[in-house]
Amino acid sequence: MAAKLGHLARAAAAILCVLIFHVTPFDSLAQARVPGGTGTCITSERDALLSFKEGLLDPAGRLSSWHGEDCCQWHGVRCSSRTGHVIKLNLRNTYTLEYYTDTTDKRYSLSLSKDELSSSLADLQQLRYLDLSGNYFNYTSIPVSMGSLENLRYLNLSLSYFGGRIPSKLGNLSKLQYLDVSGQFDPDSNLHVVDLAWLERLPLLSYLDLSYANLSLVRDWFHMVNMLSPLKVLRLADCGLKSTRSATSKSNLTHLQVLDLSENSFNAPLEHNWFFWDLTSLKELHLFDCYLYGPIPEELGNVTSLQVIDFSYNDLVGLIPSNLEKLCNLEVLLLDGNNINTSIGEFMDRLPRCSWSIIQVLTLQYTNLTGKLPIWIGNMTKLSVLSAHGNMITGTIPLGVGTLGNMTNLDLGSNKLDGVLVKEHFSGLLNLEYVDLSYNSLKMDIEPHWVPPFRLKDINLHSCIVGPHFPGWLRWQTGIESLDLGNTNLDDVIPDWFWVTFSRVQYLDASENMLRGSLPANLQHMSAHVIYLGSNKLTGQVPQLPINISFLNLASNSFSGSLPSVLKAPLLQTLLLADNQITGTIPSSMCQLTGLVRLDLSGNKLTGDVMQCWKESDNNSSAFDANSADQFGSYMRTLALNNNDLSGEFPKFLQRSSHLGFLDLSYNRFFGALPKWLPEKTPLLQILRVRSNMFSGHIPKNLTFLERLHYLDLAYNNISGSIPWSLSNLEAMRIGIPGDRSLKPVLEESILEESMQVITKGQTREYTFEIYRLVVNLDLSCNSLTGQIPEEISLLIELTGLNLSGNQLISKIPNKIGDLKRLESLDLSYNELSGEIPSSLSVLTSLSHLNLSYNNLSGPVPSGQQLQVLDNLNYTYIGNPGLCGYPLSKNCSASTTDAEQSADHEDADHISYLYLGMGIGFVVGLWVVFCTMLLRRTWAIAYFQIIDKLYDKAYVLVVITWARLMKKTHDDAA
Ligand SMILES: *[C@@H]1O[C@H](CO)[C@@H](O)[C@H](O)[C@H]1NC(C)=O
Ligand SMILES: *[C@@H]1O[C@H](CO)[C@@H](O)[C@H](O)[C@H]1NC(C)=O
Ligand SMILES: *[C@@H]1O[C@H](CO)[C@@H](O)[C@H](O)[C@H]1NC(C)=O
Repeated sequence: MAAKLGHLARAAAAILCVLIFHVTPFDSLAQARVPGGTGTCITSERDALLSFKEGLLDPAGRLSSWHGEDCCQWHGVRCSSRTGHVIKLNLRNTYTLEYYTDTTDKRYSLSLSKDELSSSLADLQQLRYLDLSGNYFNYTSIPVSMGSLENLRYLNLSLSYFGGRIPSKLGNLSKLQYLDVSGQFDPDSNLHVVDLAWLERLPLLSYLDLSYANLSLVRDWFHMVNMLSPLKVLRLADCGLKSTRSATSKSNLTHLQVLDLSENSFNAPLEHNWFFWDLTSLKELHLFDCYLYGPIPEELGNVTSLQVIDFSYNDLVGLIPSNLEKLCNLEVLLLDGNNINTSIGEFMDRLPRCSWSIIQVLTLQYTNLTGKLPIWIGNMTKLSVLSAHGNMITGTIPLGVGTLGNMTNLDLGSNKLDGVLVKEHFSGLLNLEYVDLSYNSLKMDIEPHWVPPFRLKDINLHSCIVGPHFPGWLRWQTGIESLDLGNTNLDDVIPDWFWVTFSRVQYLDASENMLRGSLPANLQHMSAHVIYLGSNKLTGQVPQLPINISFLNLASNSFSGSLPSVLKAPLLQTLLLADNQITGTIPSSMCQLTGLVRLDLSGNKLTGDVMQCWKESDNNSSAFDANSADQFGSYMRTLALNNNDLSGEFPKFLQRSSHLGFLDLSYNRFFGALPKWLPEKTPLLQILRVRSNMFSGHIPKNLTFLERLHYLDLAYNNISGSIPWSLSNLEAMRIGIPGDRSLKPVLEESILEESMQVITKGQTREYTFEIYRLVVNLDLSCNSLTGQIPEEISLLIELTGLNLSGNQLISKIPNKIGDLKRLESLDLSYNELSGEIPSSLSVLTSLSHLNLSYNNLSGPVPSGQQLQVLDNLNYTYIGNPGLCGYPLSKNCSASTTDAEQSADHEDADHISYLYLGMGIGFVVGLWVVFCTMLLRRTWAIAYFQIIDKLYDKAYVLVVITWARLMKKTHDDAA
């Protein structure tokens, strides 16, 4: 959002700049002397042009008129009517957007067919005007020969992907008035200047733009440009300039009107060492993102010609100084991302009063503003952009805002505003296009039949109180492209007109409401790219998808019936339908959604065989084959099919999913063996859950090659054989979660906000992946695993949870189990383990849950502080008659008497009945909580302290804690 509005404000400023400076004397100069452009072409010059064309690729045919005798008639060429010489060549790619957007549409670009740009242009000796901007010159150098075009007045090579060193020969162009050799924001570019001394030889230069060229090697850049006393416009944005100090203390640039030094890391106080304050003609000062700090200097008040000030995204502190009252021309003030740290009323009061009726753009995002909006804000009659997003502004929005007829952009989102908004707040906003009031405590009370005077493009009311009824006054806002009504207390049926009025919306969020009713059966007419309608009460069937949709979230509703049999959405990347009541099978047309990156169908009632999207012939093509790149699964990063009633074998299409990081198939009826191809085909897998299915066979030994796997849950299957010792090589469990420490987070961007479902006592909860991805867990419980626990398991030192219970494991607990220092939960219950409990267990200081019950362990229970405070001492050790010592009543020193023994048994029986009496639901619930949730220590302790008392209460606590965790993650993310 910040970036979005930053751009917006800058675009607004830029537009203004264009208006202020539509200085094009150069253009008129060239044209004035060539009235009709008629004349006879000079043969040598025609040959030069043809040879120039020869070296170019021209996919759009822009030079198709370049043939025949009279080159003066060719596109972009102008000749002098007096001499017949070519004096102007304009091959600008007009499809290139200017100002910060820097996007060249290559389809219309000229680019090089040879290794370098032809030097033949040097033959056009009378050329005064040359514009090659916006083309694509393959990062080659600007030809040195350009320095011989001695009659040039105008040279524009901007945004055209030149690279290398800008030739100092350009200093020979002594008549030059306009020079733009700026590059584009592009890490691949190596456009640079080593020395600027040649500028001195351009005495007439009034426009200089070297933005995005690297000037970091230039010594005393200011001294060099200070030679150019006629300069009106100087742009050196993102040039790697570092110093603000100069041998020159006095500015020579008395004509300078525009200075743009944005995106250079000056790391200096704005106050000192600057020459701006001598710039008596300056109208625009752009110092966006320059690492400037300290207060805004008093001297600024002396530059009374200033119209545009962009200080945004620096570390400036405090109020604007009180002596700015002479800045009566101020139209644009951008201060986003600084630390103004005062009340907005006081801030605005300091704005020069004489500018109140002039100021058009005021952006103050994330500037630590407090207090209330001043009532007199309505006096700023020209205001067209006001953004104070992300501050701590309190109180109500003054009615005066509603009189600002020039306002196009109003952004007060993410503040602490409250009160009721009525139609008078909007009734005078005739030009409003963009409004963001999200994340405030504002309540809307606007008659449903009110017809607003504006035509909105973008409205964001997220987390305001708009409901309970759907805002009827939006009904005629058919121009909306982005609509956010998420979490706005809507408790209503979605009105019929919604799908017509908003059919052109690109971004739609109405999630987290209580919207009822069903969606139209077909949404193909919608142009939406992004739709969030999750967490509502929508019913009916999932509709035919909008044809351009790329993100669709309908999760946590009550959709039922089957999925549409035709899924026509070729651009779909994210499809989230979790936690509904969708029945039937997954349609085979799902296989046509080849671009899917995230698919979540969990928590539904889907039945039948899972889609395999695989033919036997696919077997022969590898995941990296060009052939398979556009087949289902090729882009899949997260797949959640858990908690359905799906069957079939492990999905084969995943063999194409070389980016897969998250896979959850748990709680279904999948069968067959776990595939052996996972490490080879899905090398980035981090989380694998197949819990509670009917998978059989052995644990594939090569799982160990999944270097990023940190969460492996194979519990509740029919997996047999022994635990392969090679599992102890799982890198992420040994060294840490990728991204957590040494390894780079390749998958982060997709997994970050991934959520997954956890089933507790029949309830489904969602919590963000951000928490989940920190868990290192190995759960092989409730299978038919035999043999010993491999000693090497103690190498998986990052484990926070280890559950091997409910198998047939024999022999001793590995002695070095105490090496698993991060363990918070260890469950080895219901096996056939024997021998003594290793004393190293007592050093596990993070352990809050330990269950060794129902084995054949014997000897003393190890003592140690942590072991005394475990939450579940009552059943940690039961079912092991051979154990003795605290907390068991059996004493280790004396041989136990019969009476004691029977008492022990009674005790144990009593507890075990209690335990079993709670039923399978409890056991499952418990394990789910252990194994699938965050096992944060504080959390786990709180949970288990009361679980013995009443597990229903525990459930409540879980939910509350979850809610808190979710809120925290939300806040963190925000
Ligand atoms: C320059 O770039 C264009 C467009 O990418 C490409 O088609 C052309 O082959 C490149 N020219 C050279 C000489 O590499
Ligand atoms: C001012 O510019 C002139 C040329 O226009 C130059 O000769 C002179 O040295 C400059 N003065 C300073 C202080 O840089
Ligand atoms: C600003 O202008 C005032 C007079 O208007 C002058 O006294 C002061 O020295 C100037 N400050 C600077 C830093 O030029």
